[in-house]
Amino acid sequence: MTVTCRRCRSAPAEVQLAYAKLSLCSNCFQEFYVNRVRRTVEEFKMFKPKDKVGVAVSGGKDSMALLHSLKTAFPITNFIALHIDLGIKDYSKHCKEKVEKLAKMLDVELEVFDLESELGFSIDDFRKTVYRRKLCSACGTIKRHLFEVLAERAKTRILATGHNLDDVVATMLNNFFNGNWSQLVRLKPVLKPLMPNQTFKIKPLIKTPEEENLLYCLYSEIPFREVDCPHAHTERLKENKDMLKYLSKGNPGFRHQMLKNFLKLIPILEKAIEKPKLTTCKICGFPSSAEVCAFCKRVEMVRKVKK
Ligand code: AMP
Ligand code: FES
Ligand code: ZN
Repeated sequence: MTVTCRRCRSAPAEVQLAYAKLSLCSNCFQEFYVNRVRRTVEEFKMFKPKDKVGVAVSGGKDSMALLHSLKTAFPITNFIALHIDLGIKDYSKHCKEKVEKLAKMLDVELEVFDLESELGFSIDDFRKTVYRRKLCSACGTIKRHLFEVLAERAKTRILATGHNLDDVVATMLNNFFNGNWSQLVRLKPVLKPLMPNQTFKIKPLIKTPEEENLLYCLYSEIPFREVDCPHAHTERLKENKDMLKYLSKGNPGFRHQMLKNFLKLIPILEKAIEKPKLTTCKICGFPSSAEVCAFCKRVEMVRKVKK
């Protein structure tokens, strides 16, 4: 027996959202998805419709769905897509092509930072450094710094990323497990800048389960990368995500409930945690806990092995 959509009551239902007790057709699902993005932006006061908003787009399903849904939910907002070409062989070129395609499709401006031509190295070059077994960690540091550079070029102080509900809850479990309280509070939906001229980081997909980003991309015919990063090395996070999916089978609202309670805990944690003492990096001038920041240290290291 075909189930009809609970919203429009005419088309056949294709998507079951157990946590919301909803069965939706593809059109109503897309509407539901975009409405949740709009409500999340409004609930956490992420930006105002007339702001200029930078969107970090990697080419993956999450950030591609993010850019498309933001543009649909806030048609008058000036979004600018920000992409970092990491120079990873058999991967980065493909990602950039997908991002360019979507930016064109949505008529959104695109600003690209090209690691190889602008800084003279690629993420692959870290294979020759002590980071060879944890390339993702070096890559994360480089990306965080370059998001700020790109935002400055784009003249925006708001930076949206595609972190989804599963990313946030899985990372929360990791940080909790490791007692990494300062990183734990950084998972909040709106992260204020460490220094006045830096960006507010926003997560409009914080309430969106990961699997729905893929569905949204497919139903909305959004291009997205089809290959995985050859350095992907996030086993711990993947294990946590698998565990969350397993727990959500018995209790469909599990991830949402975890997030809800975590958001209540953040202000309490923030009061209890000592703020890191920051200075400015003597090389790049970005906030840093040491004389030279993590980004500049890694750049120096990779340049040495390239010589
Ligand atoms: P990740 O840390 O790879 O899970 O990515 C988290 C978020 O960072 C993505 O959803 C994007 O918003 C952003 N991001 C990651 N890689 C890139 C990239 N190469 N260029 C632009 N944004 C990126
Ligand atoms: Fe950074 Fe894969 S995208 S190591
Ligand atoms: Zn620096």
